[in-house]
Amino acid sequence: MAREYKLILKYADEPGYTPDIGCYLRHGGYEILKKALAMQPRELPNGGKKSPQEQIRDDVKVSGLRGRGGAGFSCGLKWSFVDHKSGKPVYLICNADESEPGTFKDRQIIYKDPHQLLEGMIIACYANNAHLAYIYIRGEMAGGARILNRALAEARSKNFLGKNILGSGYDLEIYVHRGAGAYICGEETGLIESLEGKRAYPRIKPPYFPAVLGLWMCPTIVNNVETLCNIKHIVAMGGAEFAKLGTPNNTGTRIVSLSGRVKKPGYYEIEVGRATIGELIFDEKFGGGLPDGRKLKAVIPGGSSAKVFKAGEKFKLKKKDAEGKMIEQETDMLDLPYDFDSLIAAGSMSGSSAIIVMDDSVDIVEALANIAVFYAHESCGQCTPCREGSLWMSKALHRLTHGEGRAGDADYLIKIADNIPGGRTICAFGEACSWPVQSFVGKFKDEFVAKGKADEERRAKEKTGPAAATPPVRHELATAHSLDEPRGHGVFQKS
Ligand SMILES: Cc1cc2nc3c(=O)[nH]c(=O)nc-3n(C[C@H](O)[C@H](O)[C@H](O)COP(=O)(O)O)c2cc1C
Ligand code: SF4
Repeated sequence: MAREYKLILKYADEPGYTPDIGCYLRHGGYEILKKALAMQPRELPNGGKKSPQEQIRDDVKVSGLRGRGGAGFSCGLKWSFVDHKSGKPVYLICNADESEPGTFKDRQIIYKDPHQLLEGMIIACYANNAHLAYIYIRGEMAGGARILNRALAEARSKNFLGKNILGSGYDLEIYVHRGAGAYICGEETGLIESLEGKRAYPRIKPPYFPAVLGLWMCPTIVNNVETLCNIKHIVAMGGAEFAKLGTPNNTGTRIVSLSGRVKKPGYYEIEVGRATIGELIFDEKFGGGLPDGRKLKAVIPGGSSAKVFKAGEKFKLKKKDAEGKMIEQETDMLDLPYDFDSLIAAGSMSGSSAIIVMDDSVDIVEALANIAVFYAHESCGQCTPCREGSLWMSKALHRLTHGEGRAGDADYLIKIADNIPGGRTICAFGEACSWPVQSFVGKFKDEFVAKGKADEERRAKEKTGPAAATPPVRHELATAHSLDEPRGHGVFQKS
């Protein structure tokens, strides 16, 4: 039975729970930090010793924790890329940019339980020998930045931060840095550039993997807010125990942002893979179903960049049968377990774990136009395929939603979208802007073609007979940004 499982959000929504340190301490706050700082070196059979920091890093590996920011990369593996003998300082950055459309989970932690994030960060810094860390928070979240700054001051006043933390000899300082108000500031290398005071132009990987050449060209760990909160729980439970939560290779819990055409939009924490997409949408404990009388049309499973699923879509998924033999099983989209691997196997991703539900009242062309105008505005402009392609796609969708469409627009959109990703761009934004177009047009092609054809026929009639024409219905896109705006480096053009 699918159910909520509150690990990260255990207290956040309890009546009377507040973001101040007194409340956090009354709920056992900073006890796990004390435990981490009190750990002793462990004797190894070969006579060597494993430091407390190495023990925590090992535990994070054993836990199977995967990043909650989008890519689902192993946290323990990422940490293992840091060269602790390079002689350079190690930095840790908490990515609190949270700008993927549909995503509103990190801000729950920041606004309601900031000390949980700080405790996770301090332990993560300690484990990775970092003495300076930053929380890079989305520029628009001014209230979140204030809450975090207050929490930092409280933590400093109790010596959970600063010099010689709790008499351990370990020093750490954390600062909040407000972002430049652009989606690309959430991409880890763009974020680092922005933190260094420059435009958030992503860096090319290789060579600029943050763990090797990150902030100020020093080894840097960039982790998402939710990922870092988990560190505290891994140290509390032990990696092996943590790994029992969720499903194999998809351990722990995830906070899912559920929005769109459901009765109860909101955020729900589940064990990874222990609820299906269908349960998250229809179960009374979660979304509670669609508005009465409506039918499901489509679902975006992992934030606006993720490829859309069409209602009724089926996938062949590999799974183990009762005797442990690998079999292929046909699985309906609604029966996909909500985890990293199942969604990738179905051709999409759980991304930032944001599910956007569309019912039969939604015009799929308008929905894609809305997404495309966002990407066209947010491309940083460094790479030609992304800069030009995102704009061309947005323009084609703009005309399709403004009575100016063409029958060939569907093919035109696919052609552009197919030529942006696949190593042609510096960062994954190229994929992020192409995947919605490839999947929406690929799966709902008849709606795009029908719109374009209807527009062409209407225009033809307008040319031949004045009375025959029906004026096109103009649907204004739900975005503040007009395509007529001067274009280029969207990062600094936020209106
Ligand atoms: C265009 C783009 C935007 C991104 N925005 C965010 C974001 O807002 N928050 C986030 O945590 N990760 C974001 N990411 C992913 C980060 O680059 C990075 O992978 C992540 O912060 C690593 O943390 P994790 O390993 O804990 O998931 C974005 C990636 C791309 C390509
Ligand atoms: S892919 Fe797009 S967002 Fe990323 S660096 Fe290139 S132009 Fe900028």
